[in-house]
Amino acid sequence: MGWNPYNAFNSSFNDTLIRQHVDIIVNQSYLAAGYRYINLDDGWQASERTKDNKLSFNSSKNGLLFGIYSDAGIQTCGGLPGSLDYEDIDVQTFVDWDIDYLKYDNCNEQRRPEQERYKKMGDALNSATAGKNKTIYYNICEWGTSNPWLWGPGVGHSWRTTPDIIAFWPSIISIIDSQVRLTEYGGPERGWNDPDMLVLGFERIPYDEQVTHYAFWAALKAPLILGCDLRKVDDKIKALILNDDIISVNQDPLGLSICQVYYKTDNDISFDIWTGPLDDGYVAILFNRGIESKSITLDFKNHCCLDGTIEVYDLVNQRSNGIYANNYTAVDIPKHGVEFIKLIGGNNIDDDRPCLNYS
Ligand code: GLA
Repeated sequence: MGWNPYNAFNSSFNDTLIRQHVDIIVNQSYLAAGYRYINLDDGWQASERTKDNKLSFNSSKNGLLFGIYSDAGIQTCGGLPGSLDYEDIDVQTFVDWDIDYLKYDNCNEQRRPEQERYKKMGDALNSATAGKNKTIYYNICEWGTSNPWLWGPGVGHSWRTTPDIIAFWPSIISIIDSQVRLTEYGGPERGWNDPDMLVLGFERIPYDEQVTHYAFWAALKAPLILGCDLRKVDDKIKALILNDDIISVNQDPLGLSICQVYYKTDNDISFDIWTGPLDDGYVAILFNRGIESKSITLDFKNHCCLDGTIEVYDLVNQRSNGIYANNYTAVDIPKHGVEFIKLIGGNNIDDDRPCLNYS
């Protein structure tokens, strides 16, 4: 969980902007909520390497975790020096700066195979930190082009599964759809699917769509990297970002993603249901894809393999909706909206998760 300037500012950030965000993150509860990584994206580098071939930059951390960006090509996407064939020298520079996180992009890659380029950087990070009681979180950012969910485990800690997110609904829903077949590939033993950084806090996205976006990223167990201008976030969105029940779903120790267990496509009344286990319960997203409000019924047995009486807890509004047996109907879910709930109690009646089978 963290913040990265790219979604709001692309590569146009400077020391003042980063310090303003560090202040907000530390002093306005974001750090306390778990947003710890401050990740500099493309644009932090000086435009030339130094005489001894090093990337140049200065950093100070103020108690946060510090993430940086480079590229598995000869230049970054923004045309600054990349790390291809400079892996060892750049990792040494990053270790000298005490970085905690590396996002490693995929532009200008000279048509050399992804796995080879990404593994080389992973190996350089591992050997530079060996025996040092230090982990540098390694985010493989090759946009899902060579199925990194298959080879990423053991190479990095997370892998982008999609092209860049854009702060509008078609991008959010297309990313959700592209995750349907990938949910089984993330987890604490393997590493994390990364459907890209959050676009929470962008004013042009209606509130209900922001809730849908956050609910999915949280329950898919995606890395939660904020990308908005935190100086402009209103109180309602700030409360959503800092909602500790949603963050707890994301950080749940079991670390299993929700998966799609039901869908119905019928023009504008299409909806789907995603569920998954938590360490201390079960989580469900009832998702109204359509443009009219809609009620959706969750069947405890068929959609969650649960029976008995179950408390339904509304994670967004942070209140209990009561105790139910057999099923629960969420009434009038708004256009593009979700009901995001935790199920507490009941008995698990099957070892198999009821995910739809897409293979
Ligand atoms: C790529 C990445 C983005 C961002 C830009 C920076 O597009 O996928 O997340 O880092 O490069 O140039």
